[in-house]
Amino acid sequence: MNDLLPLLKTRIPGPQSRVLAKQLRRYESRNITYVAEHWPIFWKRAAGANVWDVDGNRYVDLTAAFGVASVGHGNPRVVAAVKAQADELMHAMGDVHPNELKLRLARELVELTFGRWSKSAGRVIFANSGAEAVEAALKTATIHTKRPGVIAFEGAYHGLTYGALETTWRPDFRKPFAKQLGRFTTHIPFGSLPLVGRDRRARRSRSGRLGQPSLPKPIDYYGAVIVEPIQGRGGIVVPPDDFLSNLREFCDEHGLVLIFDEIYTGFCRTGKWFASEHWGVVPDLVCVGKAMAGGFPISACVGRAEVMDSWPESNGEAIHTSTFLGNPLGCAAALAAIGEMKRMKLDVRSRDLGDWLTKRLAQFGTVRGKGLILGIEFAETRDGGARPPGAPKSSVISGRPGGPPLPVQLVEKLLQRGVLALPEGDRGEILGVTPPLVITEKQLGYCLDVLIALCQK
Ligand SMILES: Cc1ncc(COP(=O)(O)O)c(C=O)c1O
Repeated sequence: MNDLLPLLKTRIPGPQSRVLAKQLRRYESRNITYVAEHWPIFWKRAAGANVWDVDGNRYVDLTAAFGVASVGHGNPRVVAAVKAQADELMHAMGDVHPNELKLRLARELVELTFGRWSKSAGRVIFANSGAEAVEAALKTATIHTKRPGVIAFEGAYHGLTYGALETTWRPDFRKPFAKQLGRFTTHIPFGSLPLVGRDRRARRSRSGRLGQPSLPKPIDYYGAVIVEPIQGRGGIVVPPDDFLSNLREFCDEHGLVLIFDEIYTGFCRTGKWFASEHWGVVPDLVCVGKAMAGGFPISACVGRAEVMDSWPESNGEAIHTSTFLGNPLGCAAALAAIGEMKRMKLDVRSRDLGDWLTKRLAQFGTVRGKGLILGIEFAETRDGGARPPGAPKSSVISGRPGGPPLPVQLVEKLLQRGVLALPEGDRGEILGVTPPLVITEKQLGYCLDVLIALCQK
């Protein structure tokens, strides 16, 4: 396994990265790529948990590029599958004349989810991005229940297309579009259960202590609950242990479809194949994407057959489809990536490395998450610096007073040392650790030492 540590040859970002960033600024919507004195680097190639930039600098990646590269960047078997498929068939007619790989992947996804969870039949709607998988789930719930309302959670991130954004929580993403949003979604605190009538369970539950939010509309207005079993971009938040099972009961009692968004947490990220397995709760629909194809953009909504079969039979015109649906390259990549997850037992590896890392991080700060989706909390100090909670007073990372939250500043400092990391949380107040699941202890240990050194400066 590729086991390299960072090797920096230029100042970061290097001269080539700086030139390219300047040019990109001229042609790409200015809202997209953040360009600043110390940001970004341009990636040239990547393998395993290593990334090389255009200036020849080598990094260790603690992000898996938004949680995608679980089987390792440029996983050789995934690359070979995509190359072979590209030679044979790059594009078919998703909902008209399909290709066999779409069938094979649909079967694999159903077997991995509802087949394993409840030995029940399932159906798949393919898409290209996470947000689109969420759109498919929201539409499925509406088709099934004929009710428009959706209950989502504060801190939730489900993507940025209009339907998904409607359920995403973050105020800064919603603000410019606020007048178009808020039509069918009610957000309640993550971990809580809505209080409906004299709902005794809500009162009993630990989550009830979070305030038992009541809903602004009658319960029969709502057709779905959408939830991340562990919130990712919201700051790596693990809910109370009874939360998902209470949600399941709530949905069963009131006839709502329960949607798990496992786009970030799925495919071994949390130490299980899917995060919901930590609590043994089975949803009606599950959204997957990101790591599913080792870097190829493909996603899916997988659902229990009884719910999915509320969609009308196609009469030659699908009412929900897209041009690239079930694209052969994406399907080939996903089948190979899932094969790699099984071959390398990445669920077990993620759990073991996560346990090891959590123990090492515990002496350093407060850590939350499961497997290799971990978040480090920092206590901010008055001068704009921060220190890991519980660490001695001398362990202060000096910050810029009034500057961004410390993890945001730390991420820049880590980049200077050859470690790629990202902040998570609404304000970037959490340092995320979501590396490729093939990362080694040596690489993780190195990153930790860099982090500790930065914190002791
Ligand atoms: C839980 C979750 N859902 C949905 C999405 C949206 O996925 P995409 O960016 O592929 O549209 C993300 C992306 O980070 C996510 O973390």
